[in-house]
Amino acid sequence: MAKKNPTQMQTDWTYAPAPESTSHIRLEKKYQLFINNEWVEPSSKKYFPSINPATEETLAEIAWANEADVDRAVKSARKAYKEVWSKMSGIERGKYIFRIARMMQERAREFAVIESLDCGKPIRESRDVDVPLACNHFFYYAGWADKLEYAFPHKIPEALGVAGQIIPWNFPLLMAAWKIAPALAAGNTVVLKPAETTSLTALKLAEIIKDSGLPAGVVNIVTGFGDTGAAIVNHHDVDKIAFTGSTHVGKIIQRAVVGTHKKTTLELGGKSANIILDDAPIDQAVEGIINGIFFNQGHVCCAGSRLFVQENVADLVIKKLKSRMESLYVGDPLDKNTDIGAINSKEQLDTINKYIKIGKAEGAEIYQSECSIPSRGYFCKPTIFTGVSQSHVIAQEEIFGPVLTIQTFRTIDEVIQKANNTPYGLAAGVWTDKGSRIFNLTTKLRAGVVWANTYNKFDPVSPFGGYKESGFGREGGLHGLSAYLK
Ligand code: NAI
Ligand code: MG
Repeated sequence: MAKKNPTQMQTDWTYAPAPESTSHIRLEKKYQLFINNEWVEPSSKKYFPSINPATEETLAEIAWANEADVDRAVKSARKAYKEVWSKMSGIERGKYIFRIARMMQERAREFAVIESLDCGKPIRESRDVDVPLACNHFFYYAGWADKLEYAFPHKIPEALGVAGQIIPWNFPLLMAAWKIAPALAAGNTVVLKPAETTSLTALKLAEIIKDSGLPAGVVNIVTGFGDTGAAIVNHHDVDKIAFTGSTHVGKIIQRAVVGTHKKTTLELGGKSANIILDDAPIDQAVEGIINGIFFNQGHVCCAGSRLFVQENVADLVIKKLKSRMESLYVGDPLDKNTDIGAINSKEQLDTINKYIKIGKAEGAEIYQSECSIPSRGYFCKPTIFTGVSQSHVIAQEEIFGPVLTIQTFRTIDEVIQKANNTPYGLAAGVWTDKGSRIFNLTTKLRAGVVWANTYNKFDPVSPFGGYKESGFGREGGLHGLSAYLK
C-alpha cells in the first residue's frame, strides 16, 4: 500500500506494506451446497461468482440453491432432528459444539484471511474480532447444551425443531456462529443461508462441521440470493426463522410468517446515536467515534452513525476528529496497517455515494480525509457531515458505510429526544465522566444496547437486539438461547 497521508507527509514517513500471506489458504474453484454432510450440485445447475471487493477478482463460483434444493435441505434437517439430534443428550450435543469451536480456533488464520478476501474487512478486524468472537460463541453455547434446565429453572426446555437462518454480509462468519451455536445447543437442526456476496467462510465452516463428525443433516448450508432466502422463509416445515439484514427484507419476512406456526427473531437496521457530553474524556471519545463509525467500513448494524456533541465542546471534538481521520489508512484489507478496507459490493458503494450526494444537496457540510484510495476495487473515504439537522435524510436513513452525521445539543433532555427520534433503536453510546449521567441516559435511550465510554463491544454472554424497526428478539446470552426453545 505504502500510501502517504497528510499527517505522515509532515513527518515524511509511512508504514511499509505488511500484507498477510494467502499462501496457507485453500479455496475451491467451485462450491456446492452443503446438505446432509455432503456437497451436492444445485438442481438448477446455476452458479454465481463471489468477488473480492478490493480487487474485483472472482474468488470462487458458488452454487445457487432454488426451492427444490431448499426443500432437500429442510428434509435433511427434519430427518436429523427426528432421528438423531432430538434424541441425543445435552452432554453429547455439547461435545460436538465444543469440537467445532476448537477446530475453528485451529484454523483461525485461514478463516481470517478468507473473510478479508471475500468481505473486504481489514485483516486486523477479521483476525482480532470476527474469528475469535465466532469461536467464543460456539464455546459459550456449547457450555449450555447440557444445562438447559438450569438456564431456565422451573421450565421444561424443548427445542423448536428445524431453524431457518438467513444472514447478511457484514460479519459473515460471526453471524453464522450467532445463529448456529445457540440453535444446536438448544437441540435444533439448521438450514443456514449466507449472504450472496460472502458465502465463503460459511462454506469453510461446513468443511469443519463435516470433519467434526456432527451427524449428517444437523447443519445444512444453502447458498444463493434473496429467492433462496425466501424459499427457506416460505417452507412449510421450518419451525423458526432467524434473520439479520435490512429492515426492508425483515418486513417481507414478518408478513410471510404471519398466521403460520413459525417463530421469528429479526435483527434489522440501525441509526445509532453516539453521544458526547461536555465532561467526557475527549481523546477517548474521539477514538470511540472512529471505532463506532469507521470500524468495518461502517458496515455495522449498530454503527454509531449519528454523533451528538454537546455544544460547548463541539469545536474541539470536531477538530480532533478531523485530525484523527487523517491518520486512518484506507486500502488493501489484507494489509495489517489498514484501518478501513473495501466496501463489500459495488451496489453498497453506490448506495453510500448516493447518500453522500444527498447530504451535500441537503446543505450539510462535508469533510473527507485527504487520503488516496486504490483505483481498483470498491473504496470510500472516511466522511463526516456537519451542519446536519434532524430532518436531513442522511440523519434519518441507514447508510451502512463510513459516513457520520454530526449534530450538537445543549441539554440532556434535548439529546435524549433527538437520539430517540428515529424509526430505529438498535444501539447507542454515551461518553461522560459521571455515573449518574450514564444511568440517566441509558434508562431513557430507546436502544437495545447502550455502551458507556466505549463502543462496538461484543461478548457472547450479553444479549444484543433492537427496539422498533431495528427488529425484535435477542441474540447472545441466555436470551439468545431461549429464542430457540419452547
Ligand atoms: P438484505 O436484507 O437484502 O440481505 C440480507 C440477507 O437476506 C441476505 O442473505 C439476502 O440474500 C437475504 N434476502 C434478501 N431478500 C430476501 C427475501 N425476500 N427473503 C429472505 N431472504 C432474503 O440486505 P442487502 O440488500 O444486502 O443490504 C441492503 C441494506 O440493508 C444495507 O445498505 C444496509 O442498510 C442494510 N443491512 C443491514 C444489516 C444488519 O446487520 N442489520 C446487514 C446487511 C444490510
Ligand atoms: Mg465476496
